[in-house]
Amino acid sequence: MKDAAPQTIYLSDYRPFGYLVDDVHLTFQLAETATRVISRISFRPNSDHPGEFFLHGQEVTLVWAKIDGKDVTPMITDEGLTCDVPDGPFVWEAEVEISPATNTALEGLYTSGGMYCTQCEAEGFRKITYYPDRPDVMSAFTVRIEGDHPVMLSNGNPVASGEGWAEWHDPWPKPAYLFALVAGDLVAHSGTFKTMSGKDVDLNIYVRPGADEDKCAFGMEALKRSMKWDEDVYGREYDLDIFNIVAVDDFNMGAMENKGLNIFNSSCVLASPETSTDANFERIDAIIAHEYFHNWTGNRITCRDWFQLCLKEGLTVFRDQQYTSDQGSHAVKRIEDAITLRSRQFREDGGPLAHPVRPESFIEINNFYTITVYEKGAELIGMLKRLVGDEDYYKALDLYFSRHDGDAATIEDWLKVFEDSTGRDLSQFKRWYSQAGTPRLTVSDSYEDGTYTLHFTQETPPTPGQDHKDPMVIPIAVGLLSQNGDEVQPTTVLEMTQVSQSFSFDGLAGKPVPSILRDFSAPVILQRDQTNAERAFLMAHDTDPFNKWDAGEALAREVYKKAVTDGAAPDKAYLDGIAAILRDDALDPAFRALVLTLPSEGDMAQVLFDAGVTPDPIAIHHAGEALRVAMAQHVQDILPRIYADCMNTGPFSPDAKSAGKRSLGNTALGLITRLDGGAAAAKQFADADNMTLQLGGLAALLRNGTGEEESKTFRTQWLSDRLVMDKWFGLTVSAAGPDAAASTAQKLTEEPDFDMKNPNRFRAVFGALAGHAAGFHAADGSAYRLLGDWLKKLDAINPQTTARMSTAFETWRRYDADRQAQIRAVLQDIAGTAGLSRDTSEMVGRMLE
Ligand code: TRP
Ligand code: ZN
Repeated sequence: MKDAAPQTIYLSDYRPFGYLVDDVHLTFQLAETATRVISRISFRPNSDHPGEFFLHGQEVTLVWAKIDGKDVTPMITDEGLTCDVPDGPFVWEAEVEISPATNTALEGLYTSGGMYCTQCEAEGFRKITYYPDRPDVMSAFTVRIEGDHPVMLSNGNPVASGEGWAEWHDPWPKPAYLFALVAGDLVAHSGTFKTMSGKDVDLNIYVRPGADEDKCAFGMEALKRSMKWDEDVYGREYDLDIFNIVAVDDFNMGAMENKGLNIFNSSCVLASPETSTDANFERIDAIIAHEYFHNWTGNRITCRDWFQLCLKEGLTVFRDQQYTSDQGSHAVKRIEDAITLRSRQFREDGGPLAHPVRPESFIEINNFYTITVYEKGAELIGMLKRLVGDEDYYKALDLYFSRHDGDAATIEDWLKVFEDSTGRDLSQFKRWYSQAGTPRLTVSDSYEDGTYTLHFTQETPPTPGQDHKDPMVIPIAVGLLSQNGDEVQPTTVLEMTQVSQSFSFDGLAGKPVPSILRDFSAPVILQRDQTNAERAFLMAHDTDPFNKWDAGEALAREVYKKAVTDGAAPDKAYLDGIAAILRDDALDPAFRALVLTLPSEGDMAQVLFDAGVTPDPIAIHHAGEALRVAMAQHVQDILPRIYADCMNTGPFSPDAKSAGKRSLGNTALGLITRLDGGAAAAKQFADADNMTLQLGGLAALLRNGTGEEESKTFRTQWLSDRLVMDKWFGLTVSAAGPDAAASTAQKLTEEPDFDMKNPNRFRAVFGALAGHAAGFHAADGSAYRLLGDWLKKLDAINPQTTARMSTAFETWRRYDADRQAQIRAVLQDIAGTAGLSRDTSEMVGRMLE
C-alpha cells in the first residue's frame, strides 16, 4: 500500500481546503473484521479558497458513494479519492468497510482485549472513512453506533439509545483527529463535578469488568482536581454534560484528548497503592490533567496544520507542569523536568533527529510527536511567561482564549496575542520556534570597585539542514551571593538578545558568587569555568533550590567524569556536600533524593563526548557503581537514621510529601544495599504493603546481583496483573549485568506473556534494553542486533511504535568506530527491509544521513 515514494510535506505549502463541512453524520455497524461505516457529510465550496475536492482514505473499502442522493464513481488512490461535485453545497454519502480486529497498527478503529476503540490523531480518521482528514476542517458530529455491546460511546453528549444502538451528538465543531468511538463490555467508575457557573458534569472512567474497577478512584480525583485547577488558574470551564475516560490496554502513546471522550493507555490511568509506584501516581495525575487541559488548548482552539503541533502540545505540557507543581513542590518538579529535558531533549537536539519546535517539513507526522515539540515547546511558554511576567501572561492567555475560540490557529496567532496584549515585539523570540539545537551559553565575570559584571556569549551549533544560527532571546535568571553565603542580589531576569552581552551590578561590598540560570530559566547549556569548591559552595548556600541541586549535579558530573577517565576517587567536596544535604532535615526529602541520585550513564556518555573523550559505556557503568559504593561508605553513619525516618510514613497516601519520603527511603536503601549485602532490601520487599516499597526493595536486590528468589515471588504474585508485569519485565532487563542485558531481553521474549502486539509489553523489554546504556552498548553488538531484529518484526505490525523505538540508536555517532560500524550495519539492515513503513524508513534514513 505504501510503496509510492514517500512525499515530504512542507509548512510553506499550506493551502486551506476548498470546501467547508457543515455537518457530519456517521453510522457504525460494528463487526470484528467487517465493520460498516456509513457517512453523510454536508459540504459547501470555500468561496475564499476554491480548490479540489479530495477526501483522504486509507485501507478502507468503498461499498458505494452518492452525491445528493445519486450514485457516483470516485477516482480512488492509496491516499484517498476525488470526484466531480456540484458548484454549490451538496451532500456526500458513502459506505465503507473496515476491519478493526486485524488492525494491529492501533490507528483508526481497532479492537483491544475485546473492546472497540479508536485513535485518530494525527491521521487515523482516514482509516475509518473517506474524509478531509486535516485539523483545519471542523464540524459538529452526530454518531450512531450499532452493535451488541453494553457500552457504546462517542464524543459530546448522549442523545438517545436503545437495544443494540446508541446516538451521540458533539455540538462543538472539531477536526476529525478528535473523533472517538468506544464499544464493549465496560463498567464505569462515576463521579460528578459542579463547574464554576454551577453546571453539573457527569464523570466516568470506563474499564473492563474484573481487576481494574478498584483502580479508578485516584484517576477520578485527579480529573476533579484538574477541572477545578483550570477554572481557578486559567478561568476555563468545561463545556459538555459529560466527560468520559476509557482505559485501553493496547495503545501507542500515553493518552488522547478526544472531545468529551479521552482514551488512555491503561498504564496512564489505572492506579492502586498495591500495584502502582509513586512515580506512576504522579504521572497519572499529570496525564489526566494534560488530556483534560487539551479541552481548551487543543480542542476549543486547535491547530491549523500539523506543523503547529506545539501550539497545543507545548502549551498543554506547560499547563500540566504548572498543575503538578501546584500539587507538590515547585522546585522538585522543576528539577525533574530539567533532568528529562537535558537528558532526552538535548540529546535529540544534538543528534541526527534534531528539528525545530515547529518543524518546517516532515514525511510522517507521527514521527514529530517528540520531546522537542512537547517539552522544549513547554519551555518556550515558560520563557515567555518569565519575560512578560505573570500578570501579562494571564492577560495574554485570556485574549488567546477569547480571540481564537473555535479557531484552527498558528504560532503566529499565538505570538500576536502576546504582542497585542503586552506591546512587546516578539520577532526575535520567534526564532525559538524555527531554530533547532540547544544554545550554549558561556559566562565569565569580572569585579572592580563594587561593580560586578557577567559576560555572556551564546552560540547554537549547526543541526541537520540548519548550518547558520541567529542569536536567541534568552531570559537568564540571576542571583548573587556574598562570600559568606548571604544573598546580596535576589533573583532578577536578564534579557540577553545579542551574541555577546554583559550585565553589571553595582554597589557591592565584595566580589559575589553568581547563581546563574536560576529555576532553569532557559533551555540552554550553561558553560563556565568553575572549581569544585565553587560548586560545593553553591550546593551548600544557594537560595534558589534549582541551582542548589544543579550545583550538586555539576559536581557529580565532574567527579563521575574523573572516575571514568582517571579512575579517580571522588572529591571530598562532593562527598561532604551530599552528606550535608542528606543530613539537613529542613530540606524536602524528595529534593534530597534528587541530590543523591547520580547522573545517568547515558548523560555521562554525553558529558565525556562533550569533553572530547570517546565514551566507553562499560567503563562508565563500573565507575558509577564504584562511586555509589564510595558515597554509601561516606554517609554510612547517617543512612540508618534517614532510612528509618523515611519508612515511618503511616498509612499509604500518594501525596507529594509522603511520596518524597519514600523516594528518599528507596534512594537510601540503594546505598545501604551496597554495604549490607541486601538484608534491609529483602526486609523491605517482604514487609511492603505498596508497590513503591516492594519494587524499591526488589530493584535494590537485583542491582546488587541478588534477589533471584524475590524476583520469582514477585512474578508469581503479580502474574495476572498486566501493568505490574510490565514493571517486572522492565526491571529484569534494566537490573541485569552489562553482559547479560541482551540475553535477558531475548529470554523474556520467549515467556508466554510476552506479546509484541502490546506496545506496553514491547516497550517494557526493549525500552529497558535501550535504556541500559552498558548493556545496550555491549561490545559484541548483540543488543544492537537483537533490537534491530525485533524492530524489523514489529514494523510489519505497528509502524508507529517501531519508529519511536528506533530512536534508541540516535546517539550512535558518540561511540567508537567499532560500535558505530555495528550500529550502522543494523540501521542499514532495517532500512533495506522490504515493505518497511514510511514511519520507520523516515527515522532510520534521518539517523543514517
Ligand atoms: N495528543 C496526544 C497527547 O499528547 C498524543 C497522542 C496520543 C498521539 N496518541 C497518539 C499522537 C497517537 C500521535 C499518535 O495528549
Ligand atoms: Zn497532548
